[in-house]
Amino acid sequence: MITIISSTNRPGSVSLKLAKYYQSQLAIKGIEANLLSLIDLPPTIIVSDLYGKRSAEFEPIQQLVTNTQKFIFVVPEYNGSFPGVLKTFIDACSFPDSFADKKAALVGLATGKYGNIRGIDHLTGVCNYVNLHVLPMKIHIPYIKQELDENDHLFKEDTVKFVNEQIEKFIKF
Ligand SMILES: Cc1cc2nc3c(=O)[nH]c(=O)nc-3n(C[C@H](O)[C@H](O)[C@H](O)COP(=O)(O)O)c2cc1C
Repeated sequence: MITIISSTNRPGSVSLKLAKYYQSQLAIKGIEANLLSLIDLPPTIIVSDLYGKRSAEFEPIQQLVTNTQKFIFVVPEYNGSFPGVLKTFIDACSFPDSFADKKAALVGLATGKYGNIRGIDHLTGVCNYVNLHVLPMKIHIPYIKQELDENDHLFKEDTVKFVNEQIEKFIKF
């Protein structure tokens, strides 16, 4: 089972739009993927789901993570890294079973010109720590505001090509 994680809780985030694009591209290839947006995390997460605690609201999210074998993280650049809420989410998930010996593809995006290269590197370090195997082909999309059409689909030839290549590799991974 594949789950795409839109890795921010910012209302109206572009990451969620891109995550939905990935979901639609997988669907075209006949693969149904779940979508988890971090906007759906319980707002109490820092008191209700860290350090051994587990809330009723987080339980279905943990179940989804537990049942997932392959994750696609769509990750915006926040202050030169990945969003703090993503680390909080990873910290809240049960360890080590949530991510160990599973697989992940990483996708970075930013309004700026680096496409979250550093944040994706930082997240790769965390994935390595939790034994989550990362697909070598990572995607970085800079200037994201210029990349989506009116249907929130990628349309630039190069970006579409590289994203498609990553998805093909991830299916085989
Ligand atoms: C707290 C915060 C920090 C940000 N830091 C950066 C940054 O370091 N570099 C950058 O290019 N864009 C930065 N951005 C802009 C995001 O790249 C932009 O919001 C983009 O649309 C992707 O994030 P989104 O999913 O929240 O829309 C930041 C946005 C927020 C909310």
